[in-house]
Amino acid sequence: MCKIEGNMRDERICVLGLGYIGLPTASILATHGFKVFGVDKRKEILESLRCGKAHIKEPGLNTIVKAAVQSGRLVVNEKVCRADVFIICVPTPHNHVSPAGQFTGPLSREGSPFNRRGKKTADLSFVQQAAESIVSYLRPGNLVIIESTVPPKTVENIVMPILAKSKLRIPGDISIAHCPERVLPGNILHELVSNDRIIGGIDIESCRRAENIYASFTRGEIYLTDCATAETIKLVENAFRDVNIAFANEIEAICEHIGINAWEVIRLANRHPRVKILQPGPGVGGHCIAVDPWFLAQAAPAQARLVKTARTINDSKPWRVIAKITKSLAAARRRRVPLGAAGKKKSALLCLGITYKANVDDIRESPGLFIARHFLKRKNVELMIADPHAPKSDDLPFVDLEQGLKKADVIALLVNHREFLQVNWKKIISEKGHDFILDFKGALK
Ligand SMILES: NC(=O)c1ccc[n+]([C@@H]2O[C@H](COP(=O)([O-])OP(=O)(O)OC[C@H]3O[C@@H](n4cnc5c(N)ncnc54)[C@H](O)[C@@H]3O)[C@@H](O)[C@H]2O)c1
Repeated sequence: MCKIEGNMRDERICVLGLGYIGLPTASILATHGFKVFGVDKRKEILESLRCGKAHIKEPGLNTIVKAAVQSGRLVVNEKVCRADVFIICVPTPHNHVSPAGQFTGPLSREGSPFNRRGKKTADLSFVQQAAESIVSYLRPGNLVIIESTVPPKTVENIVMPILAKSKLRIPGDISIAHCPERVLPGNILHELVSNDRIIGGIDIESCRRAENIYASFTRGEIYLTDCATAETIKLVENAFRDVNIAFANEIEAICEHIGINAWEVIRLANRHPRVKILQPGPGVGGHCIAVDPWFLAQAAPAQARLVKTARTINDSKPWRVIAKITKSLAAARRRRVPLGAAGKKKSALLCLGITYKANVDDIRESPGLFIARHFLKRKNVELMIADPHAPKSDDLPFVDLEQGLKKADVIALLVNHREFLQVNWKKIISEKGHDFILDFKGALK
């Protein structure tokens, strides 16, 4: 995968945004013979990349970045330059705007604030800036590809008017396509090559030209359609996952109410030939599933009822987790301290995992991080965090796993990183009892 393929290609490609999606894409294009210019605003990323070192932890990424940079076919810079193809891979978070216009955070105690205090809508400012930045470099014959996940009709209503400032004919002089990315973090390099791709063009010429680019490294099928359909497909895929996780989280709440084990119910229900229930968890995080369904709701607020309900269920899950941990901490305090003094004594909480999912370093929209931060503010709690994958930061009390396990009064398993699954839980539970560990991933069943 990391060797430079035989054919050198004439097309020069400028990739804007060198994050989880842009960097693997730029590197794979470079190792398949294209001359690639990678552009990012963050200087520290560029410095690291110039030394051939990826700033993101992803299996195989360092190797391919090194090969691409050392071959001279991937050059990174802060500024856009002339190219034949521009690929935009910048972030598309959501704005959570309250009626007062203030950002009020990703989660609220009562669930999603969509209907109560405001709306979550797509923040397209990065896409707009990226599109603006290429306008003066556009020449007849250029192809612009949007890989960022965007609400339906963003290409038509936002990107095309910006690119039209070049005074070139669109379509005609300039081709534009939306090629949503579907890779799974932790397996990005494999899926970049093996996944099927959807390409939505503003015309057939745009589709064909984008197809040629992706066909150079994709082994999956490539399907051509129009832009709005491609934009919607990506959102529908992530909303599908979100709705199904919400169902699993609802089953977990129902089972807790009844007093039975949800993971056992799901495991045995899945023995039905046509049932495939996903796993519950402490909430849904990441840059995609926790965000993209809002873009569908934004496009069709009255119609996307199930989509909004699923977001509400998943957004409110961390608060249920917080309530459970709080109860366990209070019980632990009562066990350790004589009656009457319990309120004055701190109890030690170990949060296992703050990334948004297992074995990745991404903490965006992470419910685990949200939960840990909540207990950081509690005066009667001594918070400890163990996470071998998360980026370390001074404002969070990271501890060594062994040290945390020894000291904790309560453990909350929030992410099932492989390192946590290797702990001898049987021994720990036999020494400290079942109440000691709250398993929100069903990993220790
Ligand atoms: N991360 C995923 O697993 C995943 C999967 C599928 C789709 N996507 C979508 O891909 C897009 C990118 O996501 P990501 O995870 O790579 O984001 P990211 O935050 O990891 O990377 C984006 C990069 O773009 C840079 N940037 C911002 N504005 C810029 C500009 N005007 N010019 C140049 N660089 C700029 C940022 O500095 C950052 O390094 C998003 O729309 C996301 O929804 C992400």
